[in-house]
Amino acid sequence: MRILGIESSCDESGVAIIDADQGLLSHALYSQVAQHAEYGGVVPELASRDHVRKLLPLVEQVMAQAGCTPEDITAIAYTAGPGLVGALLVGAMEARGLAWAWGVPALPVHHMEGHLLAPMLEDRRPEFPFLALLVSGGHSMLVRVDRVGTYEVLGESLDDAVGEAFDKTAKLLGLGYPGGPALAELAKEGDPGRFRFPRPMTDRPGLDLSFSGLKTFALNTLAKIEGTRQDKADIALAFEQAVTETLVIKCRRALRQTGLQRLVVAGGVGANERLRNGLSDLVIREAAQVFFPRIEFCTDNGAMIALAGLVRYQAGYRGDSRLMARPRWPLAELGI
Ligand code: KG4
Ligand code: ZN
Repeated sequence: MRILGIESSCDESGVAIIDADQGLLSHALYSQVAQHAEYGGVVPELASRDHVRKLLPLVEQVMAQAGCTPEDITAIAYTAGPGLVGALLVGAMEARGLAWAWGVPALPVHHMEGHLLAPMLEDRRPEFPFLALLVSGGHSMLVRVDRVGTYEVLGESLDDAVGEAFDKTAKLLGLGYPGGPALAELAKEGDPGRFRFPRPMTDRPGLDLSFSGLKTFALNTLAKIEGTRQDKADIALAFEQAVTETLVIKCRRALRQTGLQRLVVAGGVGANERLRNGLSDLVIREAAQVFFPRIEFCTDNGAMIALAGLVRYQAGYRGDSRLMARPRWPLAELGI
């Protein structure tokens, strides 16, 4: 059983082939970051046009790398949402078109489900049930995962997603797009004791999150000082420390509240080293385990979509003949 996966929800075109027995056979990614960088953020129309150009060549590339012909493919999984509608439509049409031509099912996949299953691409795989911390550019949430398709959102961001807060703070520090990795790099030069940012919503019960205040705090801090490179590095570090400690506190609370002993971390901000270290220390104290995807599978990629398609296909999911593209799609609505 082999599934071809196609990801095109935002600014990365990702394609991969996964085999039920042999695991990931091939994967390829084309990032549009350089094109959007000059605008300081993703330009939706440019993203759609670039997916049109890149997806088919990427499909040809992964088919050749895996030594596959269309007869070897059991189904085609594609990201049906959430994301930019134009970008989603390109991937959906491509997947549906190929599925019709090859006579196989096309399986719409939820982008965040792809992220939260991504640690299962690794040799050390989490077993169900687990707690998932999803931290991407568009979403931040804590989810109880009992099995594929059964997701209970325990808490989520009331305003900016964590990745969005990283990007906005990076922007006001004059760093390029996407700002998360650039901010993390600058934070390495920071003085750990200079500024202390708040830990939002940790002083009250519950698992919801809020990050827009941190960006404002960074702005106000910057306004009071000269703004040298060292000043900016100190702010970057204080911001990163605040985000990490807030997420560690919320994960500890969620682990204790649910009694779950496995924590899965996924989404672009899951690539952040300070966060990975903070959560690794937490699970030692809590006698739990943590599972991360490798860094390249934290951010958007086709492998996680192929994997989600495979797990769903094995659970009996066959999609239907409609073309599906849902810019907004609550995770809790998913079933099999
Ligand atoms: O999951 P993802 O690739 O796309 C969405 O589904 O949104 O996440 C992208 C986000 C961006 O906000 C980016 O700045 C952030 O993840 N990010 C990071 C790091 N790498 C990516 N944030 C902090 N530290 C990083 N190392
Ligand atoms: Zn994503």
